[in-house]
Amino acid sequence: MEKLELGQTAAEYIEAQIADIKKQAKGGKILLGLSGGVDSSVCAALISKAVGKQLTCVFVDHGLMRYNEGDEIVAAFKDWDINLIRVDAEKRFLTKLKGVTDPEKKRKIIGAEFVRVFEEEAAKVKADYLAQGTIYPDIKESGGKDKPVIKSHHNVGGLPDDLKFKGIIEPLKALYKKDVRAVGRALGASNILIDRQPFPGPGLGIRVLGELTKKSLDCLRLADHIYRNEIANAKIDSTVDQYFAVLTPIKTVGIKNGQRTYDNVLVLRAVTTGDFMNADFARIPYELLAKISQRITTEVDGIGRVVYDITSKPPGTIEWE
Ligand code: XMP
Repeated sequence: MEKLELGQTAAEYIEAQIADIKKQAKGGKILLGLSGGVDSSVCAALISKAVGKQLTCVFVDHGLMRYNEGDEIVAAFKDWDINLIRVDAEKRFLTKLKGVTDPEKKRKIIGAEFVRVFEEEAAKVKADYLAQGTIYPDIKESGGKDKPVIKSHHNVGGLPDDLKFKGIIEPLKALYKKDVRAVGRALGASNILIDRQPFPGPGLGIRVLGELTKKSLDCLRLADHIYRNEIANAKIDSTVDQYFAVLTPIKTVGIKNGQRTYDNVLVLRAVTTGDFMNADFARIPYELLAKISQRITTEVDGIGRVVYDITSKPPGTIEWE
């Protein structure tokens, strides 16, 4: 059996974590924030295997999810014997984020609000512990005590001091992304969840550059949906590790139906990478890019120009904020 980066097999890792989670939870209730991403989904599967119904998953729909994503996530968990609560918190998040343009501030607000929603849910389910799908690159890139902060990820950077849990359970924190997938597969989690691309905790909150509004989020959602569908239809989705659209606040002059327009610039990002620490921009065929651009500029109101990001990591990061 294939070994994880740590030298263990997925089965060995799972066995060790199950024992550890049982020991940490001491029979108490655990609350997990489910984002629908690979990390939190695999985390849910692992903890549920260890402690069953002691685990309650809360899916906070912060209004920063992709097109139809909330419904898809709930549907993917339908067959699992897991306590799952969906909280519609879109208004609450957008109110807190009103007028905020700094990416680190947005991350911190989203992270802190996430935890507050959890706390409210925890009070309802009387959870003792908070579980998180933090993985190794999250910790490494958020900077240890002596390291500079490159980017504070919501799950390690924005926790408020008054967190009222007995402890935090993070069973994936030693793993790289590909190993999280291996563990998920060994746990028998559905492909829909395992093969998902990484999606940042702050969601589209860091893909709409600058201030977030419902209108700009809806605009990005539709453009991103078209982009992702075209990539999947062209059957190149297995060769590109992460792809998404980014909405910029830059206004550009254009012409639509014989009228002068002044609409936003949309960026298409696609990368190939092994570990998400280094990445190269994906060589998507020009014909496909032309089709995507043509569809987005005609089908999405508010987008006047589409550009393709040809920056590798480093020096660029994968996300734009
Ligand atoms: P960057 O942009 O740092 O991204 O090259 C590396 C990987 O991490 C994801 N990412 C995040 N994940 N919270 C997360 O949970 C975040 O704030 C965050 N920022 C970036 C990104 O999508 C990529 O897969």
